[in-house]
Amino acid sequence: MSPVRLALNGASGRMGGALLSLLRNDRRFELVHAVVERGSINDGQPVVVGNATSLRYAHGWAQAPAIDVVVDFSGAGGLASALDHCLAQGIALVSGTTGLDAVLEARLAAASEHIAVLRAANFSLGVALLTRLLREAAAALPSWDMEIVEAHHGRKLDAPSGTALALGHAAAVARGTTLEAAAEHDRSGRASERVDGSIGFAVIRGGDIVGEHTAMLIGRGERLELTHRATDRSVFAQGALHAAHWLAGRPPGQWRLEDVIAPLR
Ligand SMILES: NC(=O)c1ccc[n+]([C@@H]2O[C@H](COP(=O)([O-])OP(=O)(O)OC[C@H]3O[C@@H](n4cnc5c(N)ncnc54)[C@H](OP(=O)(O)O)[C@@H]3O)[C@@H](O)[C@H]2O)c1
Repeated sequence: MSPVRLALNGASGRMGGALLSLLRNDRRFELVHAVVERGSINDGQPVVVGNATSLRYAHGWAQAPAIDVVVDFSGAGGLASALDHCLAQGIALVSGTTGLDAVLEARLAAASEHIAVLRAANFSLGVALLTRLLREAAAALPSWDMEIVEAHHGRKLDAPSGTALALGHAAAVARGTTLEAAAEHDRSGRASERVDGSIGFAVIRGGDIVGEHTAMLIGRGERLELTHRATDRSVFAQGALHAAHWLAGRPPGQWRLEDVIAPLR
C-alpha cells in the first residue's frame, strides 16, 4: 500500500517537533507539506525528515501538493487556514489545537458534513479509553458522587486541564446533564454540603508531571477510581498519527479518538 500523504500544520512547534521525530521512522506516512506561521524564522527552511529531504517549511497552503490528511497542532488562526484548505480540497483533518472560540467550533462542526474531522483535547489512546470507561461507569452508577482530580507540571497555564473538562463533559452527558450544570470548580469559603449530582474538580500543579487524571466515583462504603498517567509527551504525537492513519479515506463526519480504538465487546 502506498503511504498516506500527510501535511503537518504547526510543524515547528513542540507538538510539531514530536510528530516530525516520529514521522522520520514511520513508513505508513509520506510527509508532503509542513506549515508554520507567516513570518516564522522557519519559513522556507528545509524540513529534515526521512524521505522528505527536499521539503521546506511553508507559511500557507497555496503551494500544497495532493494531501490525504492534515494533522494540526498550531493555534486558532492556523487551524482556520488549514480548515479552509481541507474543505476546498476534500482532505481529512486531525486537530489537537485547543482554546478555540465558538465561531471556529461551529465552523468545524459544519465542516464535518463535508470532510472527515477528528479532534481531541488529548491524543493519548489511554485517555480515549478512560473516557469510554468513565462514560459507562457514570451511567451505571448514577447516584455515586463524582470528582475529577488532575495533576500537571507547574508551567501549565489553564486549570482544570482541557482533558479534565472533557472527562467531566463525557460523564455529565452520560448522566443526562451538562458540564455547565454539574461542574463545581471552587468550594472554598462555602458553608454548605456537597450538591447531589455535581462533578467536582481538583487541580494539582508541580514539578515535571506530564499529565495525570483520576475520575472518582464515590459511593457508600466503596469507591471506584479510574486513573490515567502520561509519563512521556510523545504519547500525544503517537496518538495523533494513529488517528491520522485511521482517518485518511474515511467519510465525512465528526470522529472521536474513541472511534479509533477497538470497540468494546
Ligand atoms: N490534543 C493534544 O493531545 C495536545 C497536546 C499538546 C498540545 N496541544 C495543543 O496543540 C496546540 C499547539 O501546541 P504546541 O505546544 O505545539 O504549541 P507551540 O509550540 O507554540 O507550536 C505552535 C505551532 O503552530 C505554528 N503556528 C502558529 N500560527 C500559525 C498559523 N497561523 N499557521 C500555521 N502555523 C501556525 C507555530 O509556528 P511558528 O513557531 O513558526 O510561529 C508553531 O509551529 C495548542 O493549542 C496546544 O494546546 C494539544
